[in-house]
Amino acid sequence: MVIRPARSVSGSVCLPGDKSISHRYAMLAAIAEGKSILRNYSSGRDCASTLECMRELGCQWQRTSTDVIEVHGRGPALSPPRTPLDCGNSGSTMRMLSGIVAGQGFTSEMVGDESLSRRPMARVIQPLTAMGARINASDGDRPPLRIAGQRLKAIEYRMPVASAQVKTCVLFAGLLAEGETQVEEPLRTRDHGELALRAFGAEVRRDKNIAAIRGGQRLRAIEANIPGDISSAAFFLGAAALFRGSQITLPNLLMNPARARLLDIVIQLGMRIQVTQLDEHHGEIVGTIQAEGDSLQGVTIAGADTAALIDELPVLAAIAPYSERGIEIKDARELRVKESDRIAVVAQNLAAMGAEVEEREDGMRIPGKQVLRGAEIDSYGDHRIAMAFSIAALRAEGETRIHNADAASVSYPAFFETLESIVVR
Ligand code: S3P
Repeated sequence: MVIRPARSVSGSVCLPGDKSISHRYAMLAAIAEGKSILRNYSSGRDCASTLECMRELGCQWQRTSTDVIEVHGRGPALSPPRTPLDCGNSGSTMRMLSGIVAGQGFTSEMVGDESLSRRPMARVIQPLTAMGARINASDGDRPPLRIAGQRLKAIEYRMPVASAQVKTCVLFAGLLAEGETQVEEPLRTRDHGELALRAFGAEVRRDKNIAAIRGGQRLRAIEANIPGDISSAAFFLGAAALFRGSQITLPNLLMNPARARLLDIVIQLGMRIQVTQLDEHHGEIVGTIQAEGDSLQGVTIAGADTAALIDELPVLAAIAPYSERGIEIKDARELRVKESDRIAVVAQNLAAMGAEVEEREDGMRIPGKQVLRGAEIDSYGDHRIAMAFSIAALRAEGETRIHNADAASVSYPAFFETLESIVVR
């Protein structure tokens, strides 16, 4: 994909449904009773992987139009898969679905692509084993996973890493277990798992950093309009932040407080933001955002903010060299075990564009006031890297070529066309 420099950004973008919510709704719809209708279901390949896994587990579903999925729930007991469950590139699919298959009366094998096969799974193997599941992994920690489902028992689990995927996995397993399962997280992570369980009719208790669920509750089908993905919106907000006077409107955007930290950060960076038409669907807050670019300041992102912004850090890093004071990212070791080592890959690609970057074990510092030149960029098959560098390219001197750009379709197949439609040259 070739990206040419732009002068500004202007327009309105309707985003595909949030990826985190789409995965959870698809999984819970399969083990609920009745027919669920999921509108604005994420168009990304990751969420398609989840749907294919659910089909392999005996759940029937149809696409009734481009982004509407009807899922025929079959209740908590799924059927044994005849082939391995292919999670593709999706860590969310493997980690969250492992909680559901661990409570089934059969054995499942879960596999992934090359990138997913390198990602750590001990974080779900540990709690699920404590609940009674028997799990084999390659090297003890990496996919493929072979999960012998069992009658699970409830646990009280303190997560060593702040991970919403792990929290959701344990809550899903807890739904199928005997007794009340409690999960304590070191930092508050996104709560879509808790909200989705409640939307499907389960009772989930929350007390400070503990979420708890009683096993054996039955789920009921829902009709849902999935809010626009704020992590995908981050690329367009990043693009608008690059140009004074640029304007972007994002209707029906997910504004869940556990995800909306991005808006505070872009305000700190100098953007003006207006929120209108606030609403709530199944506990998820949505709104329309109007954002206007001004001069781009600087920011330090650390601690709980880093965890809250984990998927948005690549694009924030990609616009950092154009800011006045630069951007510093701390406490972000988790970035090294995402779809790629996002610290190394961001640093390498920024350097290819001529930027000065200080790479650290758990983050990076990118000075401001830099001039970048178009370059050859490699996404390393990571969707967020492909998209982040197409944004950096908008203010570079000369053209940028993004290799393996089709990785973007993991979360956002229409990304490049949509970007072209709002760019002013
Ligand atoms: C997600 C949680 C985050 C995030 C991922 C989606 C989720 O991962 O990076 O893209 O839907 O729960 P961790 O749980 O590993 O932090």
